[in-house]
Amino acid sequence: ALLLNPIHDTEPPSPTKRHTKVTVVGVGNVGMAIVHAILSQHLADELALIDAQADKLRGEVLDLQHAAAFLPRTTIKSSTDVSSAAYSDLCIITAGARQRPEESRLDLLKRNVQILSAIVPRLARAAPNSTILVVSNPVDVLTYVTYRLSGFPANRVIGSGTNLDSSRFRFMIAEHLRVNAHDVQAYMVGEHGDSSVALWSSVSVGGVGIVGLVKGEDAVLEEMRERVVKSAYEVIALKGYTSWAIGYSVGSLAGTLLRDQRKIQPVSVVAKGFHGIEEEVFLSLPAQLGRNGVIGVVNVELTEEETKRLRASAKKLWEVQQELGI
Ligand code: NAD
Ligand code: LAC
Repeated sequence: ALLLNPIHDTEPPSPTKRHTKVTVVGVGNVGMAIVHAILSQHLADELALIDAQADKLRGEVLDLQHAAAFLPRTTIKSSTDVSSAAYSDLCIITAGARQRPEESRLDLLKRNVQILSAIVPRLARAAPNSTILVVSNPVDVLTYVTYRLSGFPANRVIGSGTNLDSSRFRFMIAEHLRVNAHDVQAYMVGEHGDSSVALWSSVSVGGVGIVGLVKGEDAVLEEMRERVVKSAYEVIALKGYTSWAIGYSVGSLAGTLLRDQRKIQPVSVVAKGFHGIEEEVFLSLPAQLGRNGVIGVVNVELTEEETKRLRASAKKLWEVQQELGI
């Protein structure tokens, strides 16, 4: 089978549903890069932007509205009140603290669990039929927290996960082989963070498997994986935060979800039961996505080593979750 354990087979969206509403909670560097990607793809009729800082929010919205003559007509509303997410199809959470140089994503945990605990129950009440896409870090653990606090079914709670790491991975392979990143099929899975796993066994370029193609293979491949893991630290040390790549990554996920494209993208989903994972954790696996969220997880074949690394990633996330008591 292509898909393992399909979680929810989506009905095509109702042809009479014409109004698409997206809420973005948190209008910092990441939230605004996502808004930019959504606007430029004409994905929403209505955007609700929510942030705790009223002045910053008002400034961002005015600045966007002043581009009205160059953008498709999108109603942009703003509020410090989460209930303005009502009737959203998709809610994207980017609120929270970000890493300072040298800090890991997991270092943010306590601060961001507190922030999400204030946001998620209200968001779930305001937009009970939406899909929630979590971006705030550490994204896998916060997606689990969102799943528990929202009471939503697992198919409608997704973390942006390693969709971004996989893009970095494809970029590096493409640079190395001097090909277009669009022609590189490659996935990073597991934690979006330090224990992410590169699936070398399934990398292909133009339909040709990569294993055997790269000179001095093992060392080159391992170095590329390490560079992917270090990418965010490098950007944060240089400019203070990452924004554009995550903006396009989430813009692409929003397009797949809202337009029911049934594309396969690596995102953070409930991983229990796949590849021998026994813990109730969210981590990234290639998943098929549509209007109702996750349709199923792709039945990708892993080597023994890849499975071992993935399980270690799951175990690490589970241990972190245990300390939360959620
Ligand atoms: P930022 O500081 O620029 O923005 C965060 C925003 O959240 C601020 O505007 C702040 O006012 C708002 N906020 C804080 N508490 C809030 C609350 N209770 N309600 C509403 N809004 C609130 O940070 P950033 O650079 O935009 O990063 C945001 C998050 O995204 C961080 O956790 C960062 O680590 C994460 N991130 C994730 C990925 C990924 O791949 N998953 C990539 C980049 C950044
Ligand atoms: C990233 C963030 C920091 O850009 O998670 O990978």
